[in-house]
Amino acid sequence: MLIYVDEQKKQFHLTNGMVSYIFHVMRNGQLGSLYYGKALHPNTQFSYIHQYDYPTTYSSHLEGDRAFSLETIRQEYPVYGTTDYREPALSIIQPDGSHISNFTYKSHFITAGKPALQGLPATYTEDERDAETIQIVLEDTILQAKLILSYTIFKDLPVITRSSYIFNNGQNPFYLERFMSTSVDLPDKDFSMVQLSGAWSREFYVKERNLEVGIQSISSIRGSSSHQHNPFLALKRKSTTELQGEVYSFNFIYSSNFIAQAEVDQFDSTRVMIGIHPFRFSWKLSKNEHFQAPEVVMVYSDTGLNGMSQTYHDLYRNHLIRGMWKNTDRPVLLNSWEATYFNFDERKLIEIAKEAKKLGIELFVLDDGWFGKRNDATSSLGDWFENRDKLPHGIKYLAQKINELGLKFGLWFEPEMVSPKSELYKLHPDWTVKTPNRSTSLGRNQLVLDFSRQEIVNELYQRMSSIIRETNLSYIKWDMNRNITEAYSMCLQADKQDEFFHRYILGVYDLYEQLISEFPHILFESCAGGGGRFDPGLLFYAPQAWASDDTDPVERLKIQYGASLPYPIYSIGSHVSSVPNHQTKRSTPLSFRANVAYFGTFGYELNPITLTNEEKTIIKEQIIFYKNHRNLIRTGDFYRLKDPYTGNESAWMVVSKDKNEALVGWYKILATPNPRKIQTLKITGLDPKGKYTINHLDNTYYGDELMYNGIPLPPEFNGPNKKIAKRAGDFQSEVFYLVKR
Ligand code: GLA
Repeated sequence: MLIYVDEQKKQFHLTNGMVSYIFHVMRNGQLGSLYYGKALHPNTQFSYIHQYDYPTTYSSHLEGDRAFSLETIRQEYPVYGTTDYREPALSIIQPDGSHISNFTYKSHFITAGKPALQGLPATYTEDERDAETIQIVLEDTILQAKLILSYTIFKDLPVITRSSYIFNNGQNPFYLERFMSTSVDLPDKDFSMVQLSGAWSREFYVKERNLEVGIQSISSIRGSSSHQHNPFLALKRKSTTELQGEVYSFNFIYSSNFIAQAEVDQFDSTRVMIGIHPFRFSWKLSKNEHFQAPEVVMVYSDTGLNGMSQTYHDLYRNHLIRGMWKNTDRPVLLNSWEATYFNFDERKLIEIAKEAKKLGIELFVLDDGWFGKRNDATSSLGDWFENRDKLPHGIKYLAQKINELGLKFGLWFEPEMVSPKSELYKLHPDWTVKTPNRSTSLGRNQLVLDFSRQEIVNELYQRMSSIIRETNLSYIKWDMNRNITEAYSMCLQADKQDEFFHRYILGVYDLYEQLISEFPHILFESCAGGGGRFDPGLLFYAPQAWASDDTDPVERLKIQYGASLPYPIYSIGSHVSSVPNHQTKRSTPLSFRANVAYFGTFGYELNPITLTNEEKTIIKEQIIFYKNHRNLIRTGDFYRLKDPYTGNESAWMVVSKDKNEALVGWYKILATPNPRKIQTLKITGLDPKGKYTINHLDNTYYGDELMYNGIPLPPEFNGPNKKIAKRAGDFQSEVFYLVKR
């Protein structure tokens, strides 16, 4: 049992021995929050908290009950306008223009497992014993609407997921103007807020700030979750580190506009809220219509940020990512983008593929430029048929040739876009997102198709599925290279225009769902100019995401480090590219590049024909190495050891669940003159009593030695030791493979 209900006190306690989440029905019939944190005994009685209420100067909306002011009470789902002046989770505009609502408890249902959220990505259970869900039904009798708050607790993970649903059973339509997915009132503000922020080519930088009175938030109103802020927020105690301490964290399973905020009030309590961004959102609900808000995953950890990440990784690997790729090692791929950009033809591609095959590559991905008349970024998006100038025998022929070489074949698409210079645009100029009588902004020379319209989604399905069938495709990179401007749909009535952004992303999810249902074997990699839409919403459809267009390994340390906070490393697209790097012009050793890229999906983004023989030999070894360890990388526990933002060294590792093997990556960016003689790297997660061997070291070591004293790093060049030095110069790196004997 995971959900304990005290029927008399109407108190609900979700606990699995790791986390407890307790709330109850308050005197006014609304839901109040009692506790969220480390697991408590299932019989804990917590209502005494509210007995401490005493009359205050604050206004009460319960007549004759001066102790009851919502302004001073921790709530589960605060609504607008009745004595709580913090930001609400819900606000509804009613036919008379009023905004006041009052949702009070009516009933609750407990179910084994977890019901799906229709049309939306969400965590799921395959075995209903893995989780329990409680749905609390609240009603506003004047508005004649039902609000259902859903809470799921997973059996083996300190995870609670939440979402909200509203149904209009009255006669009159009303408008949601704010409908958050979760709201959690915490009793203090002694936290620092961790967020993942950045820009194109420098996504996922970990940023931290101490909470202060007022609202601190991250958000997107771009129509995608965005490069700028990932829909993730964590509140950690100031003493929390990677390895110890308390963290409350929130990840939104959604790929469009969002807000995640922490509001600290006059009493230093903190309200955390996540949901669809209320700016440019409203939803009209007529009689018998409902709205389902997306899900939020809330992870509690008392074992630091690594504990938090391991929980997300296990949850996403088992209960979010679907299909055959959920439990399948990732193929080593070669992507043509940085190898050729738009400049290729059939002969060149086949030559590249032949060479790739010799190196041990398993999947050849033809990136942008294979369709329509696409020779640069100015044309042809939407024309998803082969570019006959480049591929004179057609895409089917090329795919066959690639397959005959023993390689799987993958293609790049950007389904949501259309170039003004394209056949599709000529045929359907009215299919784009634009506001009447206003000029329409181009982004990367392209326009956005109105995916809120079903006929457009269906047409793209037809176009893509016919290519997929023709080419026996194994992989699709689904890109999205611009954000939405002049947001408006020609097909929505004026009072429904603010539904556009949500309807758009539902269209994207719908196309994904149609494609994966018909082609379940295809490995999808989502991409939005790199990591501009890398979120749990898309992981439900595409089991991996291209983390960044920046393939410089020094930058990648930061990007992949940040991305690993919520996302499992086998979902983080990471490739080795050529030097000087195309984004930073930095040159790093081939070994350094691979040592970073191993901790992800692994592949190459370079032209193998231009490699020297020595480089080819090294790459062959790298690919063998990755193939030998990819199962561990996919299934193990990931630990961040040294962060790449504050020091010159960075490190991370993966340990198998049974602690029998581990892979450790260590990186030093710039050389140090006259360095310390003995250098070690302390690691973690091993069996302290187990004896481990390490690839290129002769000794065996006990787990405790490696954890508390550290792996001895090979000697670093200091001048006099040049004969024995194993490391020298900038961009040093080591990957250690440990096996328990
Ligand atoms: C985006 C992607 C790149 C590449 C190009 C092709 O920028 O992030 O990886 O596919 O588009 O135009």
